[in-house]
Amino acid sequence: MTKSFETRAVHINHEKPLPTNSKVTPIYQSSAFSFKDLDDVEAFYQGKKDYLYSRVGNPNPDELADSVAQLEGAPSGVSASSGLAAILIGVLSMVEAGDEIIASTDIYGGTYELFQTELTSFGITVHFADFKDIDAVEALITDQTKCLYTESITNPLLYVEDLQSIVALAKKHQLKTMIDNTFATPYLINPYSTGINLVVHSATKYLGGHSDITAGVVVGDSELIQKAKTRGVNLGTTLAPMEAWLTVRGIKTLALRMEKQVTNAQALATRLTAHEGVKTVYYPKHASEKGNGAIVTIDLADPIDVGTFFKSLGWVKIVPTLAGVETTVSYPKTTSHRALPTDVQQSLGITEGLVRISVGIENIDDIEAAFVQAINAAKK
Ligand SMILES: Cc1ncc(COP(=O)(O)O)c(C=O)c1O
Repeated sequence: MTKSFETRAVHINHEKPLPTNSKVTPIYQSSAFSFKDLDDVEAFYQGKKDYLYSRVGNPNPDELADSVAQLEGAPSGVSASSGLAAILIGVLSMVEAGDEIIASTDIYGGTYELFQTELTSFGITVHFADFKDIDAVEALITDQTKCLYTESITNPLLYVEDLQSIVALAKKHQLKTMIDNTFATPYLINPYSTGINLVVHSATKYLGGHSDITAGVVVGDSELIQKAKTRGVNLGTTLAPMEAWLTVRGIKTLALRMEKQVTNAQALATRLTAHEGVKTVYYPKHASEKGNGAIVTIDLADPIDVGTFFKSLGWVKIVPTLAGVETTVSYPKTTSHRALPTDVQQSLGITEGLVRISVGIENIDDIEAAFVQAINAAKK
């Protein structure tokens, strides 16, 4: 019988047994590994020993990559020093100079900037399209197109992408596909099972869950992951052992945290929809049978003083990240999506009144009260 997600999240099977019988994997806080003689060193290069130098490989980042691959149902994975680093090495496993990517316009602003500036400087062309309009995506495909890229639940407007249509389009044109599954987490959506080639996470968010690490993981087809690993070693995107260890610890409570955060988010979305101070509530629909995620984005109704709203939230902190156990807010226009040109912001709906709420594990009545108080205080 296949074990449920909750069970698998705390019982990751590791191919390599631990060198000691400690219950939890120790932190291998070592930049390198020692060898008894030159034959022993040679054994590493012959693939008979696992570790040489921590930029090249270390048991803790490997354990994290293994954990996420298993939870996503993918054959292999690689950890990276941040979500963006994972996106970079994932993309570079699929494309090279002269190739083209088609990416969704409705993605994390940092990813947009990475694609727009850094990938371009590598000689890779990125076209942006609205993935809700799959014909518009198809119209951009050329002989050079190699990859389609989007997020399973988009940031910050929380649209749930139709992964099956994306996979069908990619198969028709023999393209690879890559999905950022950060907002959904493997608890809600498993893109690999729908035929997506690579699935990437900013582990900084829900996988870590406590806003105390910066990390990334990309999992998927073994051949691509092998290339991504090589890119990571050469570019130095390696994740530090301590960060990996903390993320593995975070994953053990992912199901518990998500269950509570998703329930709270659903309730907050419903309650704020009824509030006259809120013009629009963006909350995903039909993301998965376990719920629709733990981010709620609201557009405050005019006339409102946004500055006063943010000052009146009491214990809810303004934090330009998401997914911790605490409820936090961010302002996409001037933080996560600052890099987007104003016309792109406007066409996406990233307005002056748009607020992204990362819903935590607190009592829902306390969360609602904090937002109602801030909305009422900010009404002009
Ligand atoms: C959806 C998404 N993907 C990727 C990233 C980048 O992750 P990191 O900050 O770990 O590099 C973020 C960061 O906010 C994000 O929200």
